[in-house]
Amino acid sequence: MSVLPTSPWWRSGVVYQVYPRSFADSDGDGVGDLEGVRQHLDHLAWLGVDAVWLSPFYRSPMADFGYDVADFCDVDPLFGDLAAFDRLLADAHALGIRIVIDLVPNHTSDQHPWFQAARSSRSDPKRNWYVWKDGGGPHEPPNNWLGAFIDGGAAWTWDDTTEQWYLHEFLPQQPDLNWDEPEVVAAMEAVMRFWLDRGVDGFRIDVVHCIGRDPAFPDDVPPWSELPHCVSNEHPSTHGHIRGMRRLADGYDGDRVLIGETALPGTQWVAPYYGDGDELHLAFNFAATRAAWDASGWRQRIARIEELLDPREAWPSWVLSNHDMPRHRTRHGGGEARARAAAIILLTQRGTPFLYAGEELGLEDAVVPTERVVDPGGRDGCRAPLPWTSSPAHGWGDDPWLPFPPDASARSVEAQRADPTSVLHLYQRLLRARRASPALTEGGQEMLAAPDGVLAWRRVAPDGDQRTIVVNMGDDVATVEVAGIVQVASDGLGEDAPFSGQLAPDTAVLIR
Ligand code: NOJ
Repeated sequence: MSVLPTSPWWRSGVVYQVYPRSFADSDGDGVGDLEGVRQHLDHLAWLGVDAVWLSPFYRSPMADFGYDVADFCDVDPLFGDLAAFDRLLADAHALGIRIVIDLVPNHTSDQHPWFQAARSSRSDPKRNWYVWKDGGGPHEPPNNWLGAFIDGGAAWTWDDTTEQWYLHEFLPQQPDLNWDEPEVVAAMEAVMRFWLDRGVDGFRIDVVHCIGRDPAFPDDVPPWSELPHCVSNEHPSTHGHIRGMRRLADGYDGDRVLIGETALPGTQWVAPYYGDGDELHLAFNFAATRAAWDASGWRQRIARIEELLDPREAWPSWVLSNHDMPRHRTRHGGGEARARAAAIILLTQRGTPFLYAGEELGLEDAVVPTERVVDPGGRDGCRAPLPWTSSPAHGWGDDPWLPFPPDASARSVEAQRADPTSVLHLYQRLLRARRASPALTEGGQEMLAAPDGVLAWRRVAPDGDQRTIVVNMGDDVATVEVAGIVQVASDGLGEDAPFSGQLAPDTAVLIR
């Protein structure tokens, strides 16, 4: 019997991001793999997440560690094979955990057969699958767009064989697909069907805001001209393409979800990607990743999200950490207290929370010595392998692809499972409290008046279920007038007892 929760699971559920290289290594080669994920599903079931988003595991030369895809419909041997994927999917579903996979529609690897064909000659049938321009000859790119992860380099590379420039909003090894070419749209739809037919529960769509481009290819203007073009690329045609993806996904049963990576500068840019309920189910909003540890800044962001998303009936997403940025513990100064309080914020906001693997262990970024740096984008620290055991190898092969994060033995799953006061147990208590409370999963949200430095809000469900959340981001003990029983405290103190009204700095409470 299926134990999957009822629809729409992606509104009430919590999504856990697995970066396959860094999660768990089943074959001892120092790189995580799909079988490693399968073997550790018990950890995710115990924790209480509803879905796993798997970052790319497709065939790839790994110039961008899998976001440069050479075959969208096969598993890279480093991570296993299609049979390993099917086993993972079946076992996850049996545990009631959905599997969302990464779709990378904006670009391929330069080793993808499509690009190999396209660059072979100007008359190749796949030439128009990519974006080619003459510019001003080999020394003058078509415009001033900058690529990402290439230190201010152009988003264009000159191809000597066919004597034109091709566009790549990321690395030169990641040529951009041309979504104005109907054959590209059809090819990407076939990719989606391949995985949906296999049973995946949806897609996290990589830089989906990038796929449509202004056909005039105008120069970027300040301040955007100082930044990679992908940070600000927008074009109305993208919305039509997303509507097409949505129709395709909605044609399948079982609430398949489209979660778009809309890595744009603010909520006002992100909101339109929900369309009129006919584009993304969830659009990533990185507002919280840009927030300092400051109650008034948080209050403004929360208000802005409500103001811009509610009129569209768009359901918010919440992210504190992922594989592209320093972990929130590291960003907020490195202390464990703030990381714990942040967990309460993330899991009690109105919207769908995304946890990044290792966040439940309170991990900090690894310190990566220069000789071990592998990512051209400087993101190695947050991609350090997860420590499973307290032994020196932490459950990995002898030579993991990146060094472990600080205090890996004490922070391992093994050590923290044995300690009820650990961050890991805090996450588990929070996830359990969330799942059992209609106020937290589906309820409305009202911000409450609070002293300086304190953030407080109430969640209320139509059936009357209520929770109040208070977070002290200030430097002093705060006095807050809220009555109720502490259900979860970020420091673990005073749970199941009446709230005292006093909250230490960098702590948060969930009150019932
Ligand atoms: C966003 C992904 O999250 C990131 O890791 C990747 O490098 C770029 N898109 C390019 O695919």
